[in-house]
Amino acid sequence: MDRLDFSIKLLRKVGHLLMIHWGRVDNVEKKTGFKDIVTEIDREAQRMIVDEIRKFFPDENIMAEEGIFEKGDRLWIIDPIDGTINFVHGLPNFSISLAYVENGEVKMGVVHAPALNETLYAEEGSGAFFNGERIRVSENASLEECVGSTGSYVDFTGKFIERMEKRTRRIRILGSAALNAAYVGAGRVDFFVAWRINPWDIAAGLIIVKEAGGMVTDFSGKEANAFSKNFIFSNGLIHDEVLKVVNEVVEEIGGK
Ligand code: IPD
Ligand code: CA
Repeated sequence: MDRLDFSIKLLRKVGHLLMIHWGRVDNVEKKTGFKDIVTEIDREAQRMIVDEIRKFFPDENIMAEEGIFEKGDRLWIIDPIDGTINFVHGLPNFSISLAYVENGEVKMGVVHAPALNETLYAEEGSGAFFNGERIRVSENASLEECVGSTGSYVDFTGKFIERMEKRTRRIRILGSAALNAAYVGAGRVDFFVAWRINPWDIAAGLIIVKEAGGMVTDFSGKEANAFSKNFIFSNGLIHDEVLKVVNEVVEEIGGK
């Protein structure tokens, strides 16, 4: 069974389920607080993905946002809906993210955004793709030409945007970290900064950006893996400048 082909087909199938419920979910549950929500559709989508992986790859392990935290050398990492807030509010930037990690290294990743009809994917050594077309990171070498992006994090984001708006063309907050990271691979944005984020939000995006010729580090500038906590995804050319601004903000707010 080809993992990439399996994953693309599976996520497109799950995408149909999400489209039925997009912007029409009645029961929204709070997880850790009012900013962290989950719905029955997150769980149903996760069930569909987990069932297929268990069927076709029974000896492998699963880490999935809504309550499965296995460990293992052959690990599937699932976010059934990344950007649940957008999904619930009827905004189109939400995605399903699936990655395969072997001995700690991401080998394959797919991010599918059903409302946008966009599937971005990559496999180690084979390049990155967007709906079948090969993609590469942007070639912007000056921050002034860059559209950057980040998540909406209390403490961090306001200060980061304040500094970056003076240096870049614009900063965007899209609301799905998986999709946003993958967009660095597609050259749609030049960098994406993610703070205190989980493996299911970024594992697939990580291999997509790498295979598209980009750079992914943590906030110390060290090459990131799926289990790093903080990430800078970029085209590589403006990476050091972004890293510098990120660290100014981290210092200002007193910690990582
Ligand atoms: C969230 C989204 C959001 C990011 C948060 C994530 P979820 O994932 O990716 O863009 O800023 O840190 O938790 O909860 O919608 O799967
Ligand atoms: Ca999620």
